[in-house]
Parts: sequence; C-alpha cells; structure tokens
Amino acid sequence: MQIITEPGQMQAIAEKLRLNRQCIGVVMTMGALHEGHLSLVKLARESAGIIILTIFVNPTQFGVNEDLHLYPRPFEKDAALAKSAGVDYLFAPETGSIYPEHSQTTVECSGVASRFEGERRPGHFKGVATIVTKLLNITKPHIAIFGEKDAQQLAVIRRLVEDLNMDIKIIGAPIVREKNGLAVSSRNIYLSNEERDAATILYKGICHAQQRVGEQAHNLLTIAEEIEAMINRTPGCRSDYVGFVDEATFEPVETAETGRKYLLLLAMYSGAVRLIDNGKIDA
Ligand code: PAJ
Repeated sequence: MQIITEPGQMQAIAEKLRLNRQCIGVVMTMGALHEGHLSLVKLARESAGIIILTIFVNPTQFGVNEDLHLYPRPFEKDAALAKSAGVDYLFAPETGSIYPEHSQTTVECSGVASRFEGERRPGHFKGVATIVTKLLNITKPHIAIFGEKDAQQLAVIRRLVEDLNMDIKIIGAPIVREKNGLAVSSRNIYLSNEERDAATILYKGICHAQQRVGEQAHNLLTIAEEIEAMINRTPGCRSDYVGFVDEATFEPVETAETGRKYLLLLAMYSGAVRLIDNGKIDA
C-alpha cells in the first residue's frame, strides 16, 4: 500500500491507472477506521481492481461548536487497518493542500440537503459536497462507495454526481451494527458505557417502526411521535428529530401506502454525544 499526501501526485497516479485500463474504486473517510469503513472497502473490492482510501478530517463540514479539534486521528493504526483490508493507495492530504488560501469555489446542493441534518447543521452539506467533489477529481474513480449510515449524505452525493454530470457510479453500503443494534460510528468512542447502552434505543425505534407499519399502521406522524417518546423516556437521551421520508427525495411523508418503501431518520443525544441512524421501512 502506498501512502500519498499530495493531490497532484494522487491525480498523476490515478491518470496512469486509468490509461492502463484499471477500474478505480474510492472509499472516502475521516479516519478512525472501524468495521463500517472496512465494509465499504470490502464492497469496493467486489467491483474495482484498485482501491483508493482517503482519510481527511474535513474542517469545512464541521460547525463552529462541533468536534473538529477533538475528532480522533489515529493515523498509524488506520494505515495498518487499510493495508490489511487490501487498500492499494491511502490518500491522506494536509488541510493546506486541499484548501489553499486562494480557493474561492464551493459546491452546494439544495432540496435534498435542506432538511434534517441540513437544518440542524448549517453549512454541513456544503462542506461535504465540496470535499467529495474535490476528492473525486483527485482520485478519478470509476466507482465510489458511501455508507447508508449517513443516508442523507448519500442522497446528496447521488444528486451531486448526477447534477454535475460526473461519470462515476455511486454505490451505497448497508449499515454495520454492533450485536446490540448500535450503528458503528467513529463518534461512539465519546460514549460512556451507560450512554452506549442507552443509545441502542435508536435501533429499537427502527424495529418499532417496522413492526407498527407491518401491522398496517399508516399514520407515520403518530409512529414518529411514539419513537420520540421512547427516546425521551430513556435515561440520558434526548430526541433531536424522528421523521419518515421518501428514500430518493428526502421529502417528509405523513401517510404510508402499502407496497412502498420509506426511510426513517433519527437523531438524538445520548448525554452530550449526538448520534444519527436510519432504517428502511417497508409498508
Ligand atoms: P466518515 O464519518 O468517516 O464515514 C466515511 C464513510 O463510512 C461514509 O460513507 C459513512 O456513511 C460510512 N460509514 C460510517 N459508519 C458506517 C456504518 N456503521 N456502516 C456502514 N457505513 C458506515 O462520512 C464521512 O466520513 C465524511 O462526511 C466524508 C464522506 C468522508 C466527507 O468528508
């Protein structure tokens, strides 16, 4: 595995790989690699011959009061994990080479980026859309894998790639969960044992929704309220939002129609740690 830090060098390597007719797959991360990230690498290997993993804690997607400076950066451990997962190139640039002082251009998506995370974290998706565009231009992949864990991010990236006519296939990877249902996340390390146990209420909420919709309950607003109450009854937990949306547009949905699929989006605090999760619900 080769470690690259300069965007220009990464581009030159990617260009050469393309000229040699190699299929490039990219997995983008902010590091602190875990089973969720590694599942993306595994999926990428099914469709691509060369895997580029990027590690970059992107400052522009963090709000002023968020955890940019606390965010874990265990680079040596990450590099060892990437190597054993079969990554060919690890691209880990410095902030200055990604955002030189003279840069003036950003990428912004409306619609799908406007609600839920977009509303709670102003500027977040502008930061994500900009860095993803830049990393796609640097790594020149044929395919790019993103986790369904960040379902709205995945929807924004699908929109961005289509709207900007990028010739790249976006693949969504299923959420990796712990045995107790908690979605694996870099931010789980901030949780105490009690907060980690309490956080399993998110998965219980998803199971509750699937059960209620399966029993022919059609009022999704009522079910969302039930889940919010379940979260708020859990010691140390506070619901931020619970809502059902159309999978592609992220438009909120109030009534379930039999035979359709919806996405349940959840965000909550366990102690001071903000967690998000989601589940596909079949009506
Ligand atoms: P990060 O939070 O490091 O996540 C990197 C990728 O791993 C994302 O596509 C995310 O959805 C996926 N992922 C995280 N936890 C997962 C889990 N439990 N199961 C499946 N996939 C999971 O998302 C970002 O970084 C950044 O916003 C990024 C896209 C790299 C842009 O900076």
